[in-house]
Amino acid sequence: MPVPDFRGGFIYFEGGNNVYTGNQLREMFLKFFESKGHRILPSASLIPKDDPTLLLTVAGMVPFKPYFMRKVEPPFPRATTSQKCVRTPDLEVVGKTARHHTFFEMLGNFSFGDYFKSDAIPWAWEFVTEVLKLPVEQLWITVHPEDEEAKALWIEKTSVSPDRIAYDPENLWAAGPVGPCGYCSEIYVDLGESRGCGKLDCAIGCDCDRFLEIWNLVFMQYNRDESGMLTPLPKQNIDTGMGLERIASVMQGAASNFDTDLFLPIINKVSELSGVPYHSNDKSDVAMKVVADHTRAVSFMLSDGIRPGSEGRGYVLRRILRRAIRYARLLGIDKPFLEQIFVIIQRDYSHHYPELKENENFILNHLRLEEKNFQATLEQGTLILQEKVKSLQEAGVTALSGADAFSLYETYGFPVELTEEMLLEQDMSVDMEGFNLAAEEHRRLAKEQSQQMRAVQESAAISEKAKALGTTPFRGYQELTIKTKIEALFQAGEEVKDAAEGDEVLVFLAESPFYAESGGQTSDRGMIRTQRAEAKLTEVKKGVTGTLYHHFIVTQGVLNLGDEVEALVDEKARQATARHHSATHLLQSALRTVLGEHVQQAGSFVTPERLRFDFTHFSSLTPMELTRVEDLLNEAVLANLPVAVVEMSLDAAKADGATALFGEKYGDTVRVVSMGDFSKELCGGTHIHASGDIGLVKIVSEGGIGAGLRRIEAVAGVEALNTMRSFNDQLLEIAQLLKAQPADLSKRIQGMLAQIKDLEKEVQQLNAKVAKSEVESLLQQVKEVEGVPVLATKVSAQDMDALRNTADLLKDKMKSGVLVLGAASEGKVNWVTVVTPTGLSGLHAGQIIKEVAKITGGGGGGRPDMAQAGGKDPAKLGEALDQVPAILKSFLSSKG
Ligand code: ALA
Repeated sequence: MPVPDFRGGFIYFEGGNNVYTGNQLREMFLKFFESKGHRILPSASLIPKDDPTLLLTVAGMVPFKPYFMRKVEPPFPRATTSQKCVRTPDLEVVGKTARHHTFFEMLGNFSFGDYFKSDAIPWAWEFVTEVLKLPVEQLWITVHPEDEEAKALWIEKTSVSPDRIAYDPENLWAAGPVGPCGYCSEIYVDLGESRGCGKLDCAIGCDCDRFLEIWNLVFMQYNRDESGMLTPLPKQNIDTGMGLERIASVMQGAASNFDTDLFLPIINKVSELSGVPYHSNDKSDVAMKVVADHTRAVSFMLSDGIRPGSEGRGYVLRRILRRAIRYARLLGIDKPFLEQIFVIIQRDYSHHYPELKENENFILNHLRLEEKNFQATLEQGTLILQEKVKSLQEAGVTALSGADAFSLYETYGFPVELTEEMLLEQDMSVDMEGFNLAAEEHRRLAKEQSQQMRAVQESAAISEKAKALGTTPFRGYQELTIKTKIEALFQAGEEVKDAAEGDEVLVFLAESPFYAESGGQTSDRGMIRTQRAEAKLTEVKKGVTGTLYHHFIVTQGVLNLGDEVEALVDEKARQATARHHSATHLLQSALRTVLGEHVQQAGSFVTPERLRFDFTHFSSLTPMELTRVEDLLNEAVLANLPVAVVEMSLDAAKADGATALFGEKYGDTVRVVSMGDFSKELCGGTHIHASGDIGLVKIVSEGGIGAGLRRIEAVAGVEALNTMRSFNDQLLEIAQLLKAQPADLSKRIQGMLAQIKDLEKEVQQLNAKVAKSEVESLLQQVKEVEGVPVLATKVSAQDMDALRNTADLLKDKMKSGVLVLGAASEGKVNWVTVVTPTGLSGLHAGQIIKEVAKITGGGGGGRPDMAQAGGKDPAKLGEALDQVPAILKSFLSSKG
């Protein structure tokens, strides 16, 4: 058999049949639908845009939701895509079945109110039977029992035999609990009896691997609301989805999706790194598939700018990445490896998904850092598990509680299988029932949270109006005061005709001078007024329709629908914001000059009061670097560079070297803001006229905010003056307190610190002396119980540490005997017991303390030589001490 070349061209299979590669199949699908009038669009990001109901893009239709719901008028009637998707509900079965993934590519054709079932069905059939040439006799169709129309169309418009059409009541598809949905119809391939479960009733719908669903055609015609109610959408739509990995497995005659050219090169790399051959045993195969699937998912998620984190999609990413590392460990890979697998993924996928190349630095930096950190976490988790095992063994317990296993899983990413394996080595087990209960509870909480997230949806009346009005013309680049008109007023989601003093209203204006929060720049401040009324602006946001959502509080009079109003931007605030915004651009350039080109903006927030700039860099800035950045910034200010704003196409801007914000999608025309040769960025924000307008820029803080992420905060203009002034005032105040000149302060404080150190030493020595004399007097109380010296007494110690110190001192003095010390503090009792030397007369400190502490309503235990415990009832302390001789006697006699 020739050596397969997986990167393009055909793959050669046994028997010499040429088969299509994944790349070819993707291309064939898109081209087929292009020939049917569809526009081929690039895959949208895995981060759904403006969609609070979804964490990740889970299907090809997600980017088109606004078109299906007609929140936005679709710019074209048909589209076709190969969409990057991530689904995690089946995370645990990935690798164990032939067809589950976290990340996958979904091929789809979409109609936005254009064609419907009667075209979608024959086209799908044509593609499957004439382009892919799958044998008709191997195909099956399912339809919803109430969708006789679809069944009739299959019979009328395709060559499928009517007895190959089955009903499936689950054929109703939706991307989530709310949103567009509809009946669906699926195409299945019968892979033959040899792939089946062998059961007599094995037929279409059976869970085994014989019947494989390859394509889902959704006839999207309803919207489902929170209560589950279906209402017809304004128009009928088509949404289809064919998993590229699945169709590749069918076309390549592969045993599973993992045995296609989309995965084999990745799996081969995993095999090479681990030294374990693929297909050597089921267990290692599962691990290899998991590593391959998860590394691919993580690479794509990072390429869309998702950062590993502790919540939301960042957490999903982290979880998948950690699973990849853990499964690699099971294969014996314990060194960093993700980067080497990423290289293969990048090689095979970047021609269709160029973001894998464009964002290479970002991807690699995060892969390396997460991997390093997680290795450390894994080691820490292993230690914790070992400790736990030890204490369970001491207590004679053989099962780890479900709650403990779950907390290891949640906190350290320890898979419960790994925990089980490690325990098995010690002849121990995990309470799996308890683990599942804890996991269930966790899922319930997570679900509750996501439901809360969904609650943030605007009312239908507002969306309708916004759609009708479309983009609000923004006049605020040129003018700060304009005359405009109130187009709509809303209160609590309801459209109203007027609003009176004290009312909070949402206002749509005919035109607006107010900058809406975006690109990290906060909303403008300002007001609108008529002859008799005034309202203060509290926030402006831009909706998906381009409409500006102005939130006002009416401060005087009554505002009416249709009123002509004067809209005034707070000029001072706007100027101060512009200073901070322009300073942010200078800061980005200065950071790149000082630290290197790897510095990428990761977020920013600009207000009239300050600027915050987050960026990628892997260590804290040295004082020298910070000074250099601040110097460069202020030099650029003093050079008084003119600020130029030019509109051009995105491509022209990129060619011109403008810094584009990572992961952000721009429209075709963009604004490029430059300041001399110092800075050039794509930016929609508002700026000053020349850099000299900024005044002074002062960095006030620099620190880490996450793996590989730093944050700088700075102030500019009047705020910089205020900040410096307040530093100065504080200095003068301290000088006054210390009765010193500001210039002498540092020497003075050094002197004081030395003095404090000396005093602390003195206090320590005195304390030791006091404790020693207390010990001497306590030793007078030693009594003998059946020949064993015993000291059972109350001492004063504010906490367990202090109590243990006293016990140590006494033990040193006593040489041989039993110590039982009790101390009352904050309504509780602390106990320490020492038996010295260990094993004296067969006594066990842990057993003794258990009995003593019990009397004060507590418990505890510990080693034979030393144990500690707590109690709840200080009033019983004396009684407990009195019982000590009796307790000891009982142990001594039982030891005989
Ligand atoms: N959106 C449909 C699915 O994901 C096609 O199955």
